[in-house]
Amino acid sequence: MVSKIISFSILTLIVSIVLINYFSRVKPNHPLADLNVQEIIQEYNYPVEVHNVVTEDGYILTLHRIPHGRGNLSRKRKPILLLHGLLQSAWDFVHLGPNQSLAFVLSEEGYDVWLGSVRGTTWSRNHTNLDPDKDAAFWNYTIHELGVYDLPAFVDYVLEKTEQKSIHYLGYSQGTIAFFIMGSEKTDYLSKIKFMAAFSPAFFLKDPISPIVKFLANNWRSLQGLLNFFNYRELFGRGDLFSSYMKFVCHDENSVLINLCIHTHFSIFGYSYDELNKSMLPLTAANTPCGVSLKQFVHVFQIADSGDFHRYDFGTEGNLEKYGQEQPPHYDVSRVTTPVAIYYSSNDWAVNINNMDRVLKTVPNVVKSYKVPLEDFNHLDFLYAKHVGDLLFNVLLDDLSKY
Ligand SMILES: *[C@@H]1O[C@H](CO)[C@@H](O)[C@H](O)[C@H]1NC(C)=O
Ligand SMILES: *[C@@H]1O[C@H](CO)[C@@H](O)[C@H](O)[C@H]1NC(C)=O
Ligand SMILES: *[C@@H]1O[C@H](CO)[C@@H](O)[C@H](O)[C@H]1NC(C)=O
Ligand SMILES: *[C@@H]1O[C@H](CO)[C@@H](O)[C@H](O)[C@H]1NC(C)=O
Ligand SMILES: *[C@@H]1O[C@H](CO)[C@@H](O)[C@H](O)[C@H]1NC(C)=O
Repeated sequence: MVSKIISFSILTLIVSIVLINYFSRVKPNHPLADLNVQEIIQEYNYPVEVHNVVTEDGYILTLHRIPHGRGNLSRKRKPILLLHGLLQSAWDFVHLGPNQSLAFVLSEEGYDVWLGSVRGTTWSRNHTNLDPDKDAAFWNYTIHELGVYDLPAFVDYVLEKTEQKSIHYLGYSQGTIAFFIMGSEKTDYLSKIKFMAAFSPAFFLKDPISPIVKFLANNWRSLQGLLNFFNYRELFGRGDLFSSYMKFVCHDENSVLINLCIHTHFSIFGYSYDELNKSMLPLTAANTPCGVSLKQFVHVFQIADSGDFHRYDFGTEGNLEKYGQEQPPHYDVSRVTTPVAIYYSSNDWAVNINNMDRVLKTVPNVVKSYKVPLEDFNHLDFLYAKHVGDLLFNVLLDDLSKY
């Protein structure tokens, strides 16, 4: 049995190395694919600043800022902080340019836009004394740390630089999870957020429709087993098998492989043909998916499996040792009294719409709940849909303007 497992592992390893080697020779066929976040913002003729923020536990994170749009510069500008989803980064709020990407839309509307990238993502792979490529301890974190260290560090930094007492916040998917962790664990931060916009709130993740997400949720214990085997480590980093696979199948909109790219996206996020712009796929794949820690990844699927919003589950013994109780403690969302607007959709295969009733009952100060009026609108369409401006951003701008 053991020798079978070992030979299987060795075989898998060899096949992976060969495939990665093959995949990684293919470059995305898009003129902007080689740019980083700063360069792509400049490419679209917007001003950009790059800031480094150090968290209480030593992670060095990047905050990108688009201080103003191309229009009226003399206006007083309201700071807004944007936080991306799992496997994403600031890239996903800017790469499609002024007509499509939320950061520019907000910028033209008079906001001072700040884009966070959480620890472990392409732009935030640094630490005051750990090396992400050498030290397993760098990857020893769950989503909890994003909520209690990364997000508070971003908020404090923006407040200090803009000399404000409070800011607007928009989170997408994992960006909403981080917010509700911060709000329930560090209540002194509640008054620092004027208004929170939640795109596809993801802290109740029960019954994902995606077969892939469901499989991972059902099998998080096996994933957790890998933690012991591989130690703490990065998943979906730049040279990783899945990232290389996505770059490979998405690299050219005119290749037949693009159908694999589309089906991989759709089988995770929901089928949404009409809103998909095929030519953006090579550009998206240039920097997405990007790194997460294996432990963070397991935490997400624990939440999807249990349907509850709780800290990392170490198993009965580990929980007793860590938390003094057999079950991981729940986050108390009822503490989060910030005005919150919820935006969700019916064809979201990652966050099943059936969770929304519970979200609405649990979050104490929901000032708006908006279901995107398009049956096929999927999880990724919140950022990438062709008509996301009309379907969603215009409503958001209206809601933001009231706070
Ligand atoms: C720019 O915005 C300010 C404040 O909103 C306004 O008073 C001014 O008239 C605007 N200027 C132009 C050229 O639109
Ligand atoms: C954005 O839209 C405007 C008008 O709708 C158009 O003139 C412009 O070429 C578009 N820019 C890009 C980069 O697609
Ligand atoms: C990481 O941060 C250290 C400071 O702690 C700095 O000297 C180094 O240049 C940074 N590395 C990268 C790749 O940015
Ligand atoms: C990981 O972090 C926990 C604290 O959350 C600590 O108890 C443990 O020793 C760390 N493990 C490694 C390998 O750094
Ligand atoms: C589709 O994406 C391409 C490449 O990013 C972009 O140039 C084009 O304007 C987009 N088209 C639509 C309809 O959004």
